Amino acid sequence: MDKIIVTGGKRLEGEIKVSGAKNAALPILISSLLADGWNTYRNVPRLMDIESTKVLLSNLGAEIETDGDTVRINAQGFHNHEAPYDLVRKMRASILVLGPILARLKKARVSLPGGCAIGARPINLHLKGLARLGAAIDLKHGYVEAKAPRLKGNEIYFDVTTVTGTENLLMAAVLAEGTTVLRNVAREPEVKALADVLVQMGADISGAGTSMMVIKGVPELKPVSVSILPDRIETGTLMVAAALTRGEVVLTGCEPGHLEAVIHKLRLTGAEVITAGSRIKVSGPAEISSVDVKTLAYPGFPTDMQAQFMVLMSMAKGLSIISETIFENRFIHVSELKRMGADINISGDTALIKGVPRLGGAPVMATDLRASASLVLAGLAAKGTTEVRRVYHLDRGYESLDKKLALLGADIHREKE
Ligand code: EPZ
Repeated sequence: MDKIIVTGGKRLEGEIKVSGAKNAALPILISSLLADGWNTYRNVPRLMDIESTKVLLSNLGAEIETDGDTVRINAQGFHNHEAPYDLVRKMRASILVLGPILARLKKARVSLPGGCAIGARPINLHLKGLARLGAAIDLKHGYVEAKAPRLKGNEIYFDVTTVTGTENLLMAAVLAEGTTVLRNVAREPEVKALADVLVQMGADISGAGTSMMVIKGVPELKPVSVSILPDRIETGTLMVAAALTRGEVVLTGCEPGHLEAVIHKLRLTGAEVITAGSRIKVSGPAEISSVDVKTLAYPGFPTDMQAQFMVLMSMAKGLSIISETIFENRFIHVSELKRMGADINISGDTALIKGVPRLGGAPVMATDLRASASLVLAGLAAKGTTEVRRVYHLDRGYESLDKKLALLGADIHREKE
């Protein structure tokens, strides 16, 4: 296992290109199961979760070629309807193969993803939706066993907006018989990106990016050649790094339109954020103003940016309130930040942060993807040295974050633990 060593106090300066979006690449690579022939995906981030997805897809029978950030997948040989526990447990987004397997092989046996550090993360809405399309669903020995001779279009209402739930149903509905109406769906850019790829494959989808999508089933889909959109959460994470260190950083290859809530809140902290096309320039403030944040489904403030923003607030002037409304246990980073001197009190889904002049470096432990990023960010601004252990969490969702930060002038390196 690796650890990352950060010595705080360096201003970040320079220009860096952000990578492709993990949470778009995962469903889009999995959508290759829906067609026969070679798909080409460019700007795919080099991440552990992408490697896990490739292993899962080749286990199902797909052929995969990788050349740098380009991944080619041919599902011609896709014949296996099982996604075993050993693969699914490594990455809960593996549940996204359920819809495509059912749509193409008429039966599926996929391990239940189980819980995770940030919450129970049930998949009841995925299963309820597939049942509405005519699938017979059984839960046996920790697996979902689903059968559907032919999925039939239907009206589905999501009690809660779910990103992967929307994506699973979208991929099940595109080859179903008749029309499916999905209501109260997730509007995240990654969901729209998947819908856009499916339309390029020949699917008939309207309303992507809104809270209602209408899908008219088609007999078959064709392979595509597409580029993955930029990762808005990596972009936001690097923007916070610039703001934290009073730096001046230009991010390229971005999509500022996907970060409106984050940009708005960062400007309220006193950071200067200038956007131009696919470039975002962030200049950190001499003094960070405290700002309240409530995480919400898109286009609200993203839960995946909550931990990172909390680090900024931990060194802001005054009091700030951060409410986490999406996941029931996404304050795990708080105890580690408090060991670095942060003054944070939690009550239910709300954290009250009293800014301190500066955090102090300490050995800390990463527990989940975004919490680990927040600990690296804290180390950038803290006095002294911070050792972040178990950075495999970080490597699941960030492509060489430590190298990118070092290129911007951070005193950061990786060591074997
Ligand atoms: C996706 O997870 C992302 N992962 C998460 O990113 C992100 O935090 C989350 O959406 C919210 O934006 C991927 O896209 C691979 P949800 P997902 O279903 O789809 C409840 C990261 O850091 N719910 O939108 O699993 C659920 O408990 C990761 O990159 C049900 O109750 O999240 C939660 O409270 C972490 N029943 C809420 O919905 C269901 O069947 C939103 O979860 C499904 C979800």
